[in-house]
Amino acid sequence: MQELLNNIANAALKSEDKGQVATYIPELAKIDPNQFGISIALANGDVFSAGDAHVPFSIQSVSKVFALALALGRVGDQLWQRVGREPSGLSFNSILLLEKEEGIPRNPFINAGALVATDTYLAGSSPREALGELVRFIRAATDDESIHINESVASSELATGHRNFSLAHYLASFGNLRASVDKVLGTYCHQCAVEMTCTQLALAGRFLLEGTDMPKLVSSERRRRINALMMTCGHYDGSGDFAFRVGLPGKSGVGGGILVIAPGRASIAVWSPGLNKYGNSKLGTEAMERIAHETGWSVF
Ligand code: DON
Repeated sequence: MQELLNNIANAALKSEDKGQVATYIPELAKIDPNQFGISIALANGDVFSAGDAHVPFSIQSVSKVFALALALGRVGDQLWQRVGREPSGLSFNSILLLEKEEGIPRNPFINAGALVATDTYLAGSSPREALGELVRFIRAATDDESIHINESVASSELATGHRNFSLAHYLASFGNLRASVDKVLGTYCHQCAVEMTCTQLALAGRFLLEGTDMPKLVSSERRRRINALMMTCGHYDGSGDFAFRVGLPGKSGVGGGILVIAPGRASIAVWSPGLNKYGNSKLGTEAMERIAHETGWSVF
């Protein structure tokens, strides 16, 4: 396993086409694209890492997995009255379907749906309390108290997040937000600005892996359902392509991170800041494809 990860990291660093770093969040535009990290936390407790696996990065939309777990923890299946469970076939920040579908976002991983999930775990708390709960959840999954939110990334997104504000106002116009748009956006941008290394993220993902020694933060049924949503919706309009190439549930973030679960076997985190046309890490996707190919871990 260590040799496979070393080979993948070496090939990635030499790759000529690393994709494009996201620029719409000014703080992310500053990230050096010539970085690549990968970590695998096996169900038996072993952890393997290579490349820049110990460099913290902005997990961005990977945080939507933790937000969904918290929202389900708050309201259970009632969440599905406010957000769907179908892929959207559109980009992560699209507003198109919201009008036709009367303010019910297609799934909790596109931005509109994630705003509903954030609003759900925020309900009745202050943003500070809600974010405290989120960080405690991630720390418990990782067993690492050092995980934190990068304030500059959060402020950078808040100052430029016109699209997300529009989505939130649109949701509010259909009565699908409980808290104020400002509170939801403030919480959401801080949630996306959680910083983790690949090793921390691979460890955090173990709450989605069955096994006696894995962190038990959600029920087995909930774990299976979150994995199902990651498979069908975790890569936006690139979800079908990711399932075709990798065959494992995964969640990407515009910071270039991807968390993948190989059921019963491993939680895998990769980070390479350059993105493909869907806004998912280009080399990260290629690395996951290679791991699935070499290990035979595809669920299909
Ligand atoms: O809401 C946004 O636009 C970002 N905070 C997160 C988007 C994201 O990570 C999309 N993933 N590929």
